[in-house]
Amino acid sequence: MFIESFKVESPNVKYTETEIQSVYSYETTELVHENRNDTYQWVVKPKTVKYEFKTQTNVPKLGVMLVGWGGNNGSTLTGGVIANREGISWATKDKIERANYFGSLTQASAIRVGSIQGEEIYAPFKSLLPMVNPEDIVWGGWDISDMNLADAMGRAKVFDIDLQKQLRPYMESMVPLPGIYDPDFIAANQGERANNIIKGTKKEQLQQVIKDIKEFKEANKVDKVVVLWTANTERYSNISVGLNDTMENLLASVDKNESEISPSTLFALACVLENVPFINGSPQNTFVPGLIDLAIKRNSLIGGDDFKSGQTKMKSVLVDFLVGAGIKPTSIVSYNHLGNNDGMNLSAPQTFRSKEISKSNVVDDMVNSNAILYAPGEHPDHVVVIKYVPYVGDSKRAMDEYTSEIFMGGKNTIVMHNTCEDSLLAAPIILDLVLLAELSTRIQLKSEHEDKFHSFHPVATILSYLTKAPLVPPGTPVVNALSKQRAMLENIMRACVGLAPENNMILEYK
Ligand code: NAI
Repeated sequence: MFIESFKVESPNVKYTETEIQSVYSYETTELVHENRNDTYQWVVKPKTVKYEFKTQTNVPKLGVMLVGWGGNNGSTLTGGVIANREGISWATKDKIERANYFGSLTQASAIRVGSIQGEEIYAPFKSLLPMVNPEDIVWGGWDISDMNLADAMGRAKVFDIDLQKQLRPYMESMVPLPGIYDPDFIAANQGERANNIIKGTKKEQLQQVIKDIKEFKEANKVDKVVVLWTANTERYSNISVGLNDTMENLLASVDKNESEISPSTLFALACVLENVPFINGSPQNTFVPGLIDLAIKRNSLIGGDDFKSGQTKMKSVLVDFLVGAGIKPTSIVSYNHLGNNDGMNLSAPQTFRSKEISKSNVVDDMVNSNAILYAPGEHPDHVVVIKYVPYVGDSKRAMDEYTSEIFMGGKNTIVMHNTCEDSLLAAPIILDLVLLAELSTRIQLKSEHEDKFHSFHPVATILSYLTKAPLVPPGTPVVNALSKQRAMLENIMRACVGLAPENNMILEYK
């Protein structure tokens, strides 16, 4: 059975006019290495820590500014949300399609809330905590191409033509603000579309972005803004002492107009200085150490990196399943070909390298979890290839071969071929990222060992389900396995309304 909403009744939960307050017992473990009877032994001690959560229930009027708004993802997301808002349906050669949010964790997935007389009861994921309705978001952003969003949607060639025709009137007047173009950071083949550019020094560019955010907020009367980078993948920037290693050095480098400060870092910096959440949907190292340092000092949310849409999502499911089943993946080879502007940009070696790095580390935590299968330092061969094939457009092909060692010297090879419009996978993920980032800024918590409530750590690991290479605070483990990432997010949200984590034990029926 599916229910639309629910309220929790418990001595540990209080719904006030402005907040949901919950008291939550966090069951965890402590590990110690003890000398017992002259032998060293690992001892695991279960431990319970009391936490209190407070979630503000007044949902703000939200503005979302996309960097790269006129790209395939930006135009697809904007059009998709408008189509949902306006209840648009359109004819294809197969059938009448209706707007939906398929692929969005918050809008189209469900959580289990319990069971009655043997029947499982589910509710929408978004019913866990009050979230912004996507249709109430005010959209805006920047692009180095001045094309309006209706034409950009046409250029992207993602939506069916009947849908495009219906969306055009809503999107023609949407024109991106000038972006920061630096040909040193993206492929040379992007030069042709760069006709909408913020001129000046790095400092002037930074100040312009800050001004843009302020003006957007004011003009649209929004309470909060979230900024998300869905612009081209940049090359990695060099990290060096004195340049961008600390907050002070990064700010000084901007003042000195240092060429190694990337456009994405400038956008992120503007957001951190304005206390506006910033999410990086591309693989480059926007979050140089100095920027992370500043975000932590100013307690301003940053999250990333690189949307986890297709191939990597499959990888973080399949490898988790194989290693979890006691099977040993020994070779993972991933080919991609795509023909959209992202593919064209990634055909340059330096931007491809950023993608290769972010796609490469996604199995590390799973491999490291099983020393029965892998000797220390042993790792499967893992190769990623990306080719630009204009004809296929946004319809990306991902071909993966997984070879594993199985029982008694056997070998197992799984081959997958995935065809999908890339932007239709990414757009709902962008939506989830901005909605969850906004939500997480309304949650405060404290453990029994703390005096004061505080927000989550500004490096938002809570978003890691949606990103390929989750950005984590220094010293925090990176979790890539998809089911663990989803459980983390869902269980934290459950804790905010005083519900225990989903443990799947179903003891009632045992
Ligand atoms: P796209 O190339 O269609 O769009 C990027 C847009 O950014 C373009 O309109 C471009 O003019 C603009 N742009 C470039 N540099 C800019 C700057 N400095 N300031 C403002 N605008 C700038 O690419 P698409 O397909 O929308 O993808 C966007 C990003 O998302 C890429 O970096 C891609 O690697 C990443 N991504 C996409 C996934 C997908 O499934 N579509 C999955 C994972 C990541």
